[in-house]
Amino acid sequence: MANLSVTFCGVTFENPTVLASGILGVTASSLKNVVRNGAGGVTTKSIWLEEHPGHKNPTMIGTEHFFLNAVGLSDGGIKKAKEETFPEYLADKPAPIIGNVIAKSLSDFEKIVAEMDACGPDIIEVNISCPNVDDKYGKPFSCSVGGASDVTRIVRSATKKPLIIKLTPNVPNIAEIAEACAKEGADGFCLINTVAGMVIDTKLRMPVLTNKSGGVSGPAIKPVAVKATYDVFKATGLPIIGTGGIMTGEDAIEIMMAGARLVGMGTMVYYRDVAGFAEVVKEMDIWCEKNGVKNLEEIIGVAVKK
Ligand SMILES: Cc1cc2nc3c(=O)[nH]c(=O)nc-3n(C[C@H](O)[C@H](O)[C@H](O)COP(=O)(O)O)c2cc1C
Repeated sequence: MANLSVTFCGVTFENPTVLASGILGVTASSLKNVVRNGAGGVTTKSIWLEEHPGHKNPTMIGTEHFFLNAVGLSDGGIKKAKEETFPEYLADKPAPIIGNVIAKSLSDFEKIVAEMDACGPDIIEVNISCPNVDDKYGKPFSCSVGGASDVTRIVRSATKKPLIIKLTPNVPNIAEIAEACAKEGADGFCLINTVAGMVIDTKLRMPVLTNKSGGVSGPAIKPVAVKATYDVFKATGLPIIGTGGIMTGEDAIEIMMAGARLVGMGTMVYYRDVAGFAEVVKEMDIWCEKNGVKNLEEIIGVAVKK
């Protein structure tokens, strides 16, 4: 058996698979269940300072090739996470936990990161890439060098924990945005958030989702995630959680070759159920054996170096 354990920002993961934010990551028991099913680590859904309502149903549609959602980041707020989710998860922590946070303004980003720091996660992930959270120009903070730098600078001052920034692929040059975050002290990245999209019901002649548009995830976005990972790894060399359309062990190996150190999976659960985590890990192991790889470190970023 190959050594599948990896270290990410000084934290050791037994295997590189991580539950992506927003999928099953609601309660401590659901997070623990994902670890029981083989994940090397988990990410909470995006947590706000206060309770946050989501969008009205229908908020999701799945097809053979992709999944479209506009859940709208519904959440019970940081107080609930601090009093329930984190103490329950950390009491007998089965694997590293990444606390994902979100806010609408710079000052709220500073506050929520300080609050998350006090919850005791291993790593803090800052979601500046949700299509529904706008800056003054009507775009997520991660859509501009200035917006991404401003958030990173302010959150960096609020925690000494490993800090990673979750970026959107909906930009012309993601490497430029990542470099700006790195300059302000980001320790790494989670790439990618969903890709903006829409599905129209041809019988009803209108968008399927109440929110009209949403975020595309699943198999269709894997090449987008692989390129974003490749570009950001090449530009910064920082650790990356490669996320987007990873469904199989070979997909996981592919995004690691682009520079990912951990592999996030969300929509995979829709297609393969939560048991898919252990299956993907097994598939990675089989791939390593067939290809003479003894340690996953051997493949991280190899495609970038060629
Ligand atoms: C239903 C759903 C909810 C999501 N909620 C969040 C969220 O709360 N915070 C976040 O940073 N990303 C969220 N995402 C994005 C995922 O974490 C991930 O970046 C994206 O779905 C691509 O990975 P995948 O193809 O493996 O799902 C959500 C995705 C889905 C499908």
